[in-house]
Amino acid sequence: MSSKVNAFIAGTGRATPQKILTNFDLEKIVDTSNEWIIERSGIKERRIVDDNTAASDLALEASKKAMEEAKVKPEEIDMILIGTITPDFLLPSTACILQDKLGAKNSAVLDIVAACSGFIYGLSIAQAFIQIQKYKTILVIGVELLSRVTDWTDRNTCVLFGDGAGATIVKNTNDDKGILATYLSGDGSLANLLHIPVGGTRTPLTEDNIKERMHFIKMEGSEVFKSAVRSMGDAAERALKLAGITSKEIDLLIPHQANIRIIEATARRLKLPMDKVYVNIDRYGNTSSASIPIALDEARRNGSIKEGSKVLLVAFGAGFTWGSALVKF
Ligand code: ACO
Repeated sequence: MSSKVNAFIAGTGRATPQKILTNFDLEKIVDTSNEWIIERSGIKERRIVDDNTAASDLALEASKKAMEEAKVKPEEIDMILIGTITPDFLLPSTACILQDKLGAKNSAVLDIVAACSGFIYGLSIAQAFIQIQKYKTILVIGVELLSRVTDWTDRNTCVLFGDGAGATIVKNTNDDKGILATYLSGDGSLANLLHIPVGGTRTPLTEDNIKERMHFIKMEGSEVFKSAVRSMGDAAERALKLAGITSKEIDLLIPHQANIRIIEATARRLKLPMDKVYVNIDRYGNTSSASIPIALDEARRNGSIKEGSKVLLVAFGAGFTWGSALVKF
């Protein structure tokens, strides 16, 4: 015990849609092959929501599981933070919609637009609010329905993305555990390499730009790849340095699941063997802000994370944004 207040992860949950879209299914839609997708990205299949499901629905399912594990009642939640670039609506936030669905009537509500780094940004904000003792219980979620903003005629992007949600309950403790260090960064000068060109106030939707499919994700894949490798490695090292430990002391690395080659490069930079790296990109593809909390929930429930495990979370995404968190369970 120490007098310092720490923020720890008291419960996790995930929600992944039933429907599986395999690489073989994609072969029928665009000019691609199962071999190319596996070799260049590591993805075999991804989950896709049905037409009636919105971000708040997946977030609700994941949140209920995290709350059940942490034994937290809706009215105990002080704040809801949702990392998402695929909200239910532009207005109001998905956090507001979820608050109502949960009956979390005492919570502050906020969406975080940081793409694939959204969950790490959320964890870091939660840690700060808990450490200054303003809040005790915060629900942090990453949820994405990337299938809704994917151009299913664009083979450069449509093979990569999937849908899902992951949730965590972050609580206060005086024990020496929890979120030991976080690091957040970004570089807005690279925004055009990965973006949705229309639909905001810069260029509102028109019949013409919808016809030109400009309301879907556009990505310069190989440029994004290079930045991702550099930034993920840098973010990982920064969290270790802030926590005052070396990579040898990490029990598990959970990297954002965008591309197996980016994951392997990050592991090499940290000199970590791949058996200390959590990989599920083969089953889910890139679920943006949901990828780390989904993997975290899987790893806790399948025994890859045990009491006392030191886990390094590292993300990179559109913006560009990147960040990391070192968590002791
Ligand atoms: N099937 C077959 N061929 C394809 C496909 C496909 N699905 N997609 C592209 N190709 C072709 C290209 O047209 C190109 O052909 P060309 O040489 O004749 O022009 C060739 O394959 C090579 O393309 P590259 O883009 O150089 O391939 P690369 O090895 O870079 O892999 C990939 C592409 C997988 C997209 C990779 O660049 C990548 O993972 N980038 C990073 C993505 C990422 O990290 N995103 C993070 C954030 S996502 C977010 O924030 C929402």
